Amino acid sequence: PPVDVLDRVTAARLVPVVVLDDAAAAPALADALVAGGLPVAEVTFRTPAAADAVRAMADHGGVLVGAGTVLTPAQVDEAVAAGARFVVSPGTSRAVVERCLEHGVAVLPGAVTATEVQAALELGLSTVKFFPAATSGGPAAVRALAAPFGGVRFVPTGGIGPDDLAPWLAVPSVAAVGGSWMVPRDLLAAGDFDAVRDLTAHAVALAAR
Ligand code: 3PG
Repeated sequence: PPVDVLDRVTAARLVPVVVLDDAAAAPALADALVAGGLPVAEVTFRTPAAADAVRAMADHGGVLVGAGTVLTPAQVDEAVAAGARFVVSPGTSRAVVERCLEHGVAVLPGAVTATEVQAALELGLSTVKFFPAATSGGPAAVRALAAPFGGVRFVPTGGIGPDDLAPWLAVPSVAAVGGSWMVPRDLLAAGDFDAVRDLTAHAVALAAR
């Protein structure tokens, strides 16, 4: 099952990174993402509403929902119990990864150096989040890491927007690109889901080029 989930993320090419302050917004957000053509969301554990938001997105049924900013095994348990189908962490934590593997849930740990990529490989993983992407060397850094790590797939996230999406997606080892630009926190707080839908559709159109 974890492999299927990462295949779906790869097929989507984009991962909207969401910070939700109110889980009540989750169904409308899910509708907006579906309408924008991107039925995927990484809901970050940065707000008290995170677990409830994951649950609401999972209950919606139309979106592949993951949990982001997962820093501890306890948060892995919380995310999985809420229905998260994948778990994203800013770094590579053995404890977090092992708990995900115990649950059989897909996990994307953060890695931007050769040492971090090797740590992920030793934990049995071959797809990592390249975070923070823009300040860690950009697309050239991913290309350089792909030379020794031919089987590794990267999900660059952090500091990427619509204007620099293309060079990231042009890297063969990039599975998908993550970012919050499609789902700005202020638009979510304002309930402007039409704007979220439009930003999402714009990103999907760029990624399809
Ligand atoms: C993340 O947690 O993946 C990042 O905060 C997303 O980075 P961005 O907000 O720069 O897209």
